[in-house]
Amino acid sequence: MTTKRNFLDLDAFEAQELRRIIECAQALKENPKCCDTPLFGKTLAMIFEKPSTRTRISFDLAMSQLGGKVVSLSTKELQLGRGETLGDTARVLSRYVNAILLRTDSHESLDEFASASSVPVVNGLTDKSHPCQLLADVMTFEEHLGSIEGKVVAWLGDGNNVAATWIQAATQFNFEIRIACPQTLQPNPEVLLWAEKRGAKVSVTEDPLSALEGANCVVTDTWVSLSDDQDKSVDILKPFQVNSSKMSLANSDAIFMHCLPAKRGQEVTEDVLDGPASVVFDEAENRMHVQKAILLWCLAPEKLG
Ligand code: CP
Ligand code: NVA
Repeated sequence: MTTKRNFLDLDAFEAQELRRIIECAQALKENPKCCDTPLFGKTLAMIFEKPSTRTRISFDLAMSQLGGKVVSLSTKELQLGRGETLGDTARVLSRYVNAILLRTDSHESLDEFASASSVPVVNGLTDKSHPCQLLADVMTFEEHLGSIEGKVVAWLGDGNNVAATWIQAATQFNFEIRIACPQTLQPNPEVLLWAEKRGAKVSVTEDPLSALEGANCVVTDTWVSLSDDQDKSVDILKPFQVNSSKMSLANSDAIFMHCLPAKRGQEVTEDVLDGPASVVFDEAENRMHVQKAILLWCLAPEKLG
């Protein structure tokens, strides 16, 4: 019997394994037909408790381009929405499909689901992390600026799930991350502690200007995440908005990244989002190439390269 290969969080991996996934994604991008249809006969179920554009569509296309099929479901369409347990849902789906992607706003639910599933489970975003996004982000960074090792990334804004995953990525891929955020919106302390124990270069500051000096990349995200109260007050985040005067404090060839969706004019001004430093649509495209490599890692690791 083979071991079930869950893709739940970047901290569960050896750095080398994550690197292999990105290399595979890059190879698939350069030569989409290179591995034919290795997932022929396999099905991925995707459960979305929350909306998604990029994750849903990129996984759907990734699976079909590798020869497999997808069943995409929302909680409301499932008995899960009427009280059937996560565990029973995972056990039933495990009898039908070969892998399951779950987007939920409770990381504990993801862990519970993964424990009950007998097929690989992929984290499609939780309140704590978004690992598929970060592999696409590292790939995108490297396409523009070369190896990310030793480089400096400045995060401005909410210390949210994506910020926490950037910290995990900085630890695994050996780059510096500076988080500039309000004191009350700092990243998950458990992730900070995990990174600190591994000697990662992570700093947290309330001063966005100091974070930007010498940065190769400036990154931000929405101020109101799917798991937040949608009435969340964003006033304290205003000093962390990415605009052209902040970009001018980073390196002259610094890139701007955002996982999208963006609230134009809030966390980032339109001139930056649409400007020459922005690589946000490359990030969105790379989601698809990375999803293919993640699916191969879960379901056909011998094809990963
Ligand atoms: N970046 C991202 O995960 O986008 P979606 O919420 O549209 O999937
Ligand atoms: N932090 C955002 C990311 C969306 C892709 C959220 O959780 O909604």
